[in-house]
Amino acid sequence: HALDLDQIYAFAVGLGRRAGELLLARAEQRISGTAEAVLEKDSAVDIVTQTDEDVESFIRNAIQAQYPTHKFLGEETYAKGQSRDYLIDDQPTWVVDPLDGTVNYTHLFPMFCVSIGFVVEQKPVIGVIYSPFQDQLFSSCTGRGAWLNERRRLPLLQKPSIPPMPAHAPSQCVFACEWGKDRRDHPDGNLYRKIDSFLNMAVERGGREGKGGMVHGVRSLGSATLDLAYTAMGSFDIWWEGGCWEWDVCAGIAILLEAGGLVTTANPPEDINAPIEDFKLGSRLYLAIRPAGPSSTETARESQE
Ligand code: IPD
Repeated sequence: HALDLDQIYAFAVGLGRRAGELLLARAEQRISGTAEAVLEKDSAVDIVTQTDEDVESFIRNAIQAQYPTHKFLGEETYAKGQSRDYLIDDQPTWVVDPLDGTVNYTHLFPMFCVSIGFVVEQKPVIGVIYSPFQDQLFSSCTGRGAWLNERRRLPLLQKPSIPPMPAHAPSQCVFACEWGKDRRDHPDGNLYRKIDSFLNMAVERGGREGKGGMVHGVRSLGSATLDLAYTAMGSFDIWWEGGCWEWDVCAGIAILLEAGGLVTTANPPEDINAPIEDFKLGSRLYLAIRPAGPSSTETARESQE
């Protein structure tokens, strides 16, 4: 039978908030000195805590109680090999990262969050991201807008649209990218070279009198989910990562698309010019571009009319 998206959206928002509160309570315990073991998964930088697992169980149980026929793909369930049906097919599927930015959480850098995405026919239709330390809740549902704290519509910032690259310098942009977890290798070549060339692309095109680029800034938050949320907000202009998983991006992509942004699988710099095609969840390589807003001159013109 037909899905009641309004009801599912309300449920997801409530669930995101409760899960985030759980994260915050655990963070408070860390502050008060109660140590929690940090375990390594695939490598020394691929870590997990009891909190990741507990919050995922909390979310999974709540979803299974409410929507027993829906599929569930969660980072920790997958890592334990318990989710054999992880490939996203046309069935309604929840895609969850209980704690994105685990390294940040263990170091008490506030950029960590819970990320809950809901996918129908392989399209992310609902996204909820809650960053409890900052009390920022990003949410979206297809056709109903993308929101910050259910109050402010995304994007918050109205910026001129980014012209197709590389025809124009992506100058005056803030770039975000992540280092991922495999620092040695990358399916498309060395990761450092990749990020370097991505940034130098801006420098080369933005240089003025040999003084270097005009790129405003480069950020790496340590949470792919929050990178996408801030791209949807309009703060970051472009985000790129190679090597992330569905749960890192699903909710963020839902929110970004609903806010009017774009996602593709382009790999900078060589295929940066590729047409923005339909991305596929599971590609592991993503380039996101913030929503275009009218330029300030257009806004000024509109208000004069
Ligand atoms: C990771 C973070 C990180 C990104 C990795 C992700 P986790 O997620 O989002 O920024 O570079 O690719 O796996 O392990 O903190 O949930």
